[in-house]
Amino acid sequence: MATNAAARRQRILIRALYTGVLIVLARTVYLIITTAPSTTTTTNMTTPHESSWKADTDEQLVKYYSSVFQDLISDGILTVDSRTLTIGAESPQYIAALREAGIAYSKAIKKNVRFPFMNNSFDLQFSAHSGLDSSAYPGELSSELTRTLKPEGYLIIHTESKDSYSLNSLLDLFDSFKLIRSREVPVQHWSIPRIREVILKKQNGILRRRRNLAGSCSVPAYKKELIQNSEPLIAEEPMKPWISLKRNLKNIKYLPSMADISFKTRYIYIDVGARNYGSSIGSWFKKLYPKQNKPFKIFAVESDKRFHQEYKSKKKITLLPYAAWVRNESLFFEINRQPNIKNEDKGRGMGRAQSAQTSTSFLGDLNKIQGFDFANWVKNSFTEKDFVVVKMDIEGTEFDIIRKMVETGAICLIDEMFLECHYNRWRRCCKGERSSKYQNEYNECMELFSSLREKGVLVHQWW
Ligand SMILES: *[C@@H]1O[C@H](CO)[C@@H](O)[C@H](O)[C@H]1NC(C)=O
Ligand SMILES: *[C@@H]1O[C@H](CO)[C@@H](O)[C@H](O)[C@H]1NC(C)=O
Ligand SMILES: *[C@@H]1O[C@H](CO)[C@@H](O)[C@H](O)[C@H]1NC(C)=O
Repeated sequence: MATNAAARRQRILIRALYTGVLIVLARTVYLIITTAPSTTTTTNMTTPHESSWKADTDEQLVKYYSSVFQDLISDGILTVDSRTLTIGAESPQYIAALREAGIAYSKAIKKNVRFPFMNNSFDLQFSAHSGLDSSAYPGELSSELTRTLKPEGYLIIHTESKDSYSLNSLLDLFDSFKLIRSREVPVQHWSIPRIREVILKKQNGILRRRRNLAGSCSVPAYKKELIQNSEPLIAEEPMKPWISLKRNLKNIKYLPSMADISFKTRYIYIDVGARNYGSSIGSWFKKLYPKQNKPFKIFAVESDKRFHQEYKSKKKITLLPYAAWVRNESLFFEINRQPNIKNEDKGRGMGRAQSAQTSTSFLGDLNKIQGFDFANWVKNSFTEKDFVVVKMDIEGTEFDIIRKMVETGAICLIDEMFLECHYNRWRRCCKGERSSKYQNEYNECMELFSSLREKGVLVHQWW
């Protein structure tokens, strides 16, 4: 009896395992199908190939999309004469649904970023949740949608966007469109998650300039909220900065840990005062910064020639071999060559920048380097549609650079900043003594941090 029961248990176990393997296999096959390389399929509805796609047409899906299009018809947004374009994985279903709703002209694209269509070809475009949402290049896709839609044409987007950050990024991609409506829509299909429907209408020219680049940045409520939810600034000057500030790293609330950063044209990391690769790009940004699988382009701003060779072998990092400064001009940096200074400043060779004209008399101890106008470069290189992260450790020059960035509006382009503010901190070696290397006091740093947060920049205190 006992052996019989054991054998039965074993059989059941084997069957269960077998079923498990089958499920895993089935899922793998499904994944392969759904992640197959994207292709362009254009379907000419005047010559439909009914039999070829009827077999895999999911009736439920067709019913769902059909109701979506019927709603658009009753709202006067879609008409039977509309020339339509659909974006997403289930093109046969969209086309069948459109036909059910009486629309004969439809083209379909599976998330390509180059459309084989002329400018102003369509009256209405529909991006299903497998369209823009799952595109690796939402910026390029949005330009193609914009290009091929007629003025006054409609763009309907179904998105899974879960927070206001990503929804606003999405709207920012279509800055020549007017928002007609945005609402959650009920979906009755297992494969489709909670969906928000956004309806946009193409205008002539650019409509929404959300931030005024010449003056102060406008800070929308959803950004204020992010800043409120981030770690508080350390208001009291730390007695042991070499411990407290480092420990603060654990408290940092990274922007991508609080919000969905999809729907940005490009993802940029600028390391200003990068030093060697391992000093922060390799040890921190690559390893610890949450990137949500986005492909970040990295810029290393570093004037010290000793570090340049290493970056030549790093093809994916763009080296700017200059010092961040407020103008394009030659600079002299003090080099700390005193051998007896205890290692609290170890590895930080460079002192405060001075412009060449004022410091010629110190030539013996100074090192000449090329400064470049950092604020201007940021303004010329990036837009608000990009996600830009900056780490800045520039030995006291931050006060000048940030003032210039605020004046020019370059600061409005920065989404998240990690800033080391240099002040006359308490020294590790000698109790009760302040470092004489920097003139600014801790409260000036606090003012800098607070004013940046007020301007809508999520800034963190860095060590
Ligand atoms: C669509 O089909 C019609 C009729 O066969 C043909 O005249 C037309 O050129 C086709 N259009 C495209 C874009 O293939
Ligand atoms: C099509 O639109 C793009 C983007 O708006 C524009 O650069 C291009 O010149 C246009 N092409 C034609 C043929 O009008
Ligand atoms: C300043 O230098 C940068 C980097 O070399 C360059 O791109 C920019 O055009 C220069 N600006 C001026 C005004 O010379």
